[in-house]
Amino acid sequence: MKLGNLRIDNPFVQAPMAGVTDYAFREVARRFHFGLIFTEMISAEGLCRGNWKTMHYTRTTPEHRPVSLQLVGRDPERMAEAAVRAETMEIDFIDINAGCPQVRIAATGSGGAMLKDPEKLVKIVSAVKNAVSLPVSVKMRLGYSKDQSLELATLVRDAGADFITVHGRTVAQKFTGKSDWQAIKKVVDNMDIPVLANGDVRSEADAVALLERTGAAGVMMGRATRGRPDFLGTAYSLLESGKFERMSPELLASTILDHARIEQELFGELSGMKRMRKHVTWYFKAAGIKFDSQLIYSLETIADLENVLNKCIPAKP
Ligand SMILES: Cc1cc2nc3c(=O)[nH]c(=O)nc-3n(C[C@H](O)[C@H](O)[C@H](O)COP(=O)(O)O)c2cc1C
Repeated sequence: MKLGNLRIDNPFVQAPMAGVTDYAFREVARRFHFGLIFTEMISAEGLCRGNWKTMHYTRTTPEHRPVSLQLVGRDPERMAEAAVRAETMEIDFIDINAGCPQVRIAATGSGGAMLKDPEKLVKIVSAVKNAVSLPVSVKMRLGYSKDQSLELATLVRDAGADFITVHGRTVAQKFTGKSDWQAIKKVVDNMDIPVLANGDVRSEADAVALLERTGAAGVMMGRATRGRPDFLGTAYSLLESGKFERMSPELLASTILDHARIEQELFGELSGMKRMRKHVTWYFKAAGIKFDSQLIYSLETIADLENVLNKCIPAKP
């Protein structure tokens, strides 16, 4: 697929997910595939102020690329200023969050709330586009409470977006109901910029089906990638060769350990392990491994994790 001037030979894209697609996850995911990875949403306000926590979210390396940095905010000038700062980082795209349904985001007029205020959305897209030379994209839902995807996508395109991602739900739906793949196809069919389709990919077969059914330039995957940093790679393999292989138990164990060591380097052993606990449960769930959540939520050291891995994953790391 071609996004802006960049050709990426994997149509499967890692969705931005707050608390998931952070530096450590991206570092691990990059070992398995070369697909585009989105950062988690990054507050434009925090970036402009150089807030420590926000700056951590922005951290990337040349090896992580291609990376899209997603900004969330409500003020066109601050969004543009944040984009200018982001442009100096190791990233390839700047994405604007116009879909987040979380109350703490939408209540400020950011994220999904922008779909209720298309004028503001247009101002933000054109302010960001005019401020930077990197390609700019928008991640949106079908509409705020009803499907207005075509009108919204047209506005966003005319404001300068180089590509868009459509999650086939409204903001009001949050995560209930189903992602409407037909509605996404309607946007794909009527847009002359690339569209990424998003919502409800649970397996590699779903990823290929969403790509084929919508004719989208690419498919973005979120929840299915938790505990599956390899997912974009296995989906690509299914698309290309009709088959794929999941990680061996040995590779799974060493990947989890490496992921934990990256967290440890960044945050120290105890904090790193606290951050790692949810990832361990996702890795285990995704691999169909039975586990005692009490045990996972009491992990404090790398040695604790090694014990759990030895116990729960048959082969040694
Ligand atoms: C834990 C979590 C965090 C998310 N964080 C973000 C975010 O930071 N920015 C964003 O645009 N979407 C965010 N999303 C939405 C996903 O990017 C994606 O649009 C949604 O999960 C639907 O795709 P899926 O069915 O493949 O999960 C988040 C979703 C989840 C479950």
